[in-house]
Amino acid sequence: MQIPRLHPDTVEEVRQRADIYDVVSEYVVLRKRGKDYVGLCPFHDEKSPSFTVSPNKQMYYCFGCQAAGNSIKFMMDLQKRSFSEVVLDLARRYQISIQTLAPEQRQELERQISLREQLHQVLALSAQFYQHALKNSGGALEYLRSKRKLSDEIIQQFGLGYAPAGWETLYRYLVEDKRYPVQLVEKAGLIKPRKEGSGYYDVFRDRIMIPIRDIMGRVIAFGGRTMGDEQPKYLNSPETELFSKGKNLFGLDAAKNGISQFDSVVVVEGYFDAIALHAAGINNAVASLGTALSIEQVKLALRYTESKQLVLNFDADKAGTSAAERAIGEIADLAYRGEVQLKILNIPDGKDADEYLHTHTSEEYKQLLTQAPLWLDWQIQQTIKDKDLKQATDYQQASQQIVKLLKNIVNPDTRTYYITYCAEILSLGNAQLVPLRIENLVTQIASLFTAPTKNPINRISTPSINKDTSGASKPATTSVLEKAEALLLRIFLHCPGQRQHIVDIIDKHDLQFSYSHHRFLWQKILRVLEEVSDDYDYNVVSKLQDACLEYPEETVSVSHMFHLTPITKTDILRSPQVIQTAVAYIEIAMCEKRMQYYKQLWQEIDPQVEPERHDYYYQVYYEEKMKLRELEKQRQFSILDL
Ligand code: UTP
Ligand code: MN
Repeated sequence: MQIPRLHPDTVEEVRQRADIYDVVSEYVVLRKRGKDYVGLCPFHDEKSPSFTVSPNKQMYYCFGCQAAGNSIKFMMDLQKRSFSEVVLDLARRYQISIQTLAPEQRQELERQISLREQLHQVLALSAQFYQHALKNSGGALEYLRSKRKLSDEIIQQFGLGYAPAGWETLYRYLVEDKRYPVQLVEKAGLIKPRKEGSGYYDVFRDRIMIPIRDIMGRVIAFGGRTMGDEQPKYLNSPETELFSKGKNLFGLDAAKNGISQFDSVVVVEGYFDAIALHAAGINNAVASLGTALSIEQVKLALRYTESKQLVLNFDADKAGTSAAERAIGEIADLAYRGEVQLKILNIPDGKDADEYLHTHTSEEYKQLLTQAPLWLDWQIQQTIKDKDLKQATDYQQASQQIVKLLKNIVNPDTRTYYITYCAEILSLGNAQLVPLRIENLVTQIASLFTAPTKNPINRISTPSINKDTSGASKPATTSVLEKAEALLLRIFLHCPGQRQHIVDIIDKHDLQFSYSHHRFLWQKILRVLEEVSDDYDYNVVSKLQDACLEYPEETVSVSHMFHLTPITKTDILRSPQVIQTAVAYIEIAMCEKRMQYYKQLWQEIDPQVEPERHDYYYQVYYEEKMKLRELEKQRQFSILDL
């Protein structure tokens, strides 16, 4: 059946008249409950009613399967029919006269479709206009040839042009000579109405014009660069019906074939970087238009590659992790999932691709491309770049940042690979340390998964956990582990005589605090110690309080440790035994986390496919289990409960 295009008024009337109770009650037995009605949901199997109909809101909602909508949606979903079919049907039932779109209105619709067509025309004609103006410009052509070292051939290929200096040269050409409606030219982003008086002026004046094209090569916007010092350096077309900055990549039309030939795409920041690369025969280059890369842009470019390789070459002069992260934007997620093989290229000496190619060959650039590190390797290098890993604070910071990077890796093989890799880095060439570092990273990653602040490990709790003599009821979520960690820190703060011992013991067992606020405090403690050159008798607490001032949020959860209450004082007095017990608890917690982690890895591996790795993980899992048993035995003999 050919469905006529319905008039919006008809649709609206159906919406108003087709009462939700009427429509639904024909198919579902409804019972009143309060203001609403309930019944058995027709969209999923259920025994007790969770399907609710609200006459007030003219909506239905199922608490079981989340089906929801108005009466039209109900009929569409129930009968699997289209919107128009349902509306027609309901219109007949409620005797609403059916209006279809009148001829003029249909024309309006067609006009909308052809608006895009006309915008394409206007932009194509403008590009020609700018190209023509370039030939007669003198200065602009000279700029491209000598300053940007571009051949006439490449200028032609990219359709570069020049917007003359006058205020209405393009306006006169398009509106007065070619008779395009002024609104259309405005919608194309080429002219703007004058703020005072009437009339319009050109958006782009006295600039080098770079056409931005869609995949089919049609001009959709322009970038305009000044040849002098005016600001902004680049002026871009506004968002229009055809152009949206985050959805297009400059040069993709020219790079399509190159991308599939090289089976990779190079993304640079600037228009002229992309153009220079094409000029050098590296024709798989596109430019991101100076914004962070969006998932949409990446997917657009990756369509032409098989191995999904993308090299991001952004300016190293503004480098540093933050610039990288901004450029990478949302695509880190894709990279973690392995949906893009992301590499990062920083050109030496902080040059951009354009500048580099002025003094280097394309072979040299290709060499840089091949050597570019994978994104994760690059990120890891960034975290240790300016750090001295022999310093406790630097080391802690680096290892925490690394953990944050590694925890997001989805593929377990890749994760294992990087854990080993980072453990080697953190071992500073001491091979004996590697297994310890691996254990350590695994523990930290696992603890992020168990998120102790939200979901404390209560498995190792002892019956004495809530034995709180103060009478104040502690939140039930305080685990023994948290208590053990807090005790250790409190003793450190208030017993100067025990400080050296605690630092040594943490070092020796490579203990990690599981709770983030404890990690925060420990990091600050280490920094203060560094500042006072490990003078353990120094008034650490007051210095620490000063240091914490900058971090009010984190400090909230640790500030109670700066002061002693009668109860916490008792713990302090028996500090040597308490330290021993607290350490045992922390070790048990770490061991347990590692055990769970290895167990998970072991269970995920198919022994038929990878018998060796399967056995390996079983073995390490088993070792942890034995270690845990040993630790628990020791704890039983310990004189204290926490
Ligand atoms: P850069 O400022 O890094 O400069 O802008 P560049 O590409 O090296 O420019 P040249 O070599 O001095 O000509 C990178 C990209 O950011 C966008 C442009 O797309 C530019 O190519 N950009 C930059 C703007 O949109 N507006 C600006 O004012 C500056
Ligand atoms: Mn540049």
